[in-house]
Amino acid sequence: MSPRVILKKRKTHLENLSNPSINYTDSDATAASRKQDHIELAFDAQVFKNQLDNRFYYEPVLAAHPKTETKPFEFLGKQMNAPLWVSSMTGGTEWAKIINQNLAKVCGEYKLGMGLGSCRALLTDDDCLPDFDVRKFIGDQPLYANLGIAQLEQLIKAKQTKKIDELLKKLQADGLIIHINPLQEWLQPEGDRFEKSPLETIKQLLETATYPIIVKEVGQGFGKESLEELLNLPLAAIDFAASGGTNFALLELKRSNQLSQNLFESLAHIGHSAEEMVNFCNEIKSDYYNNLKSKVKYSSRTIKCNQIIISGGVKTFLDGYYLTEKINFDAIYGQASGFLKHARGSYEELQAYTEGQLNGLKVAKQFLKVR
Ligand SMILES: Cc1cc2nc3c(=O)[nH]c(=O)nc-3n(C[C@H](O)[C@H](O)[C@H](O)COP(=O)(O)O)c2cc1C
Repeated sequence: MSPRVILKKRKTHLENLSNPSINYTDSDATAASRKQDHIELAFDAQVFKNQLDNRFYYEPVLAAHPKTETKPFEFLGKQMNAPLWVSSMTGGTEWAKIINQNLAKVCGEYKLGMGLGSCRALLTDDDCLPDFDVRKFIGDQPLYANLGIAQLEQLIKAKQTKKIDELLKKLQADGLIIHINPLQEWLQPEGDRFEKSPLETIKQLLETATYPIIVKEVGQGFGKESLEELLNLPLAAIDFAASGGTNFALLELKRSNQLSQNLFESLAHIGHSAEEMVNFCNEIKSDYYNNLKSKVKYSSRTIKCNQIIISGGVKTFLDGYYLTEKINFDAIYGQASGFLKHARGSYEELQAYTEGQLNGLKVAKQFLKVR
């Protein structure tokens, strides 16, 4: 290096020192203990080829670390800050009130959405109302009441669907989630029997309902034909509740006698994973557009439902990121048991879990591309 260049470099260095905004300081106070950790932990930090998550391309050179701010977007007609949904869970038990309040509070704080667990008990009296009454905790975020298709069928038969309007008003809910669970009901010792197909019942309700409706399963998902029928209806969203996580048919079976368990456990292993359902949705959409292009006349199919909650066995933010990126619909992802694990204790624990997911999602968005 010529003396002139050295002199110029020195000058720039001095200028930097006098300008704190571009001054480089590096007080690495934990360096020694960190280096010690590295040596001690290196042998425990081996990753093997068969552990690679090959759903993504990892692109480390294309982006900076994520900023802290969030980009709000609209889902179910409301502003959300992150594509995360607390799936329908509980009510009517000792723990339900605190769990629901914690979950609603976290949705309010981080601008997420939430489905309540089955509100069936509230159709007859208000004894359990405090368990479900969480509007004040969630603020203006999406909050949906929940009823089973069996109760709907009975309400329609008794010409009492007004009770649903009353329920939504009582809870200040934005709309209704209908859970469809024929296998769970069939396996449940005290389960209901459907007299009509769930599709018929939903169509009947849609004729008069003035509120948004979401349809979900309870842990086994929907096959392609069912999805196609549901996408054809003016629903606010479809919530997969796919197979791969909590499975309510299996859960009910575990409450049953040993003979039933031996006979019917295989039924609980029937169903569709969230990833398979994402593929079904994409196929249905591309078939629809192909039919439009080729002007196929016979098809009466349209897609009237354009929002999806991908749930059921969505264990991590990486699963959620992968599936919401892959689907060709407006989509967010939902978790039930994942949230439940952290909602029974302190609110801070639930906050930490939620914040971890949201931060993980931001990092994934910066550096990962779905293959
Ligand atoms: C404790 C518990 C209670 C649930 N209760 C309901 C319910 O009342 N209504 C409903 O639609 N789904 C209910 N579910 C099903 C969940 O909404 C969800 O579809 C299912 O647990 C799969 O999601 P996961 O794999 O993230 O747990 C419940 C789930 C759990 C874990």
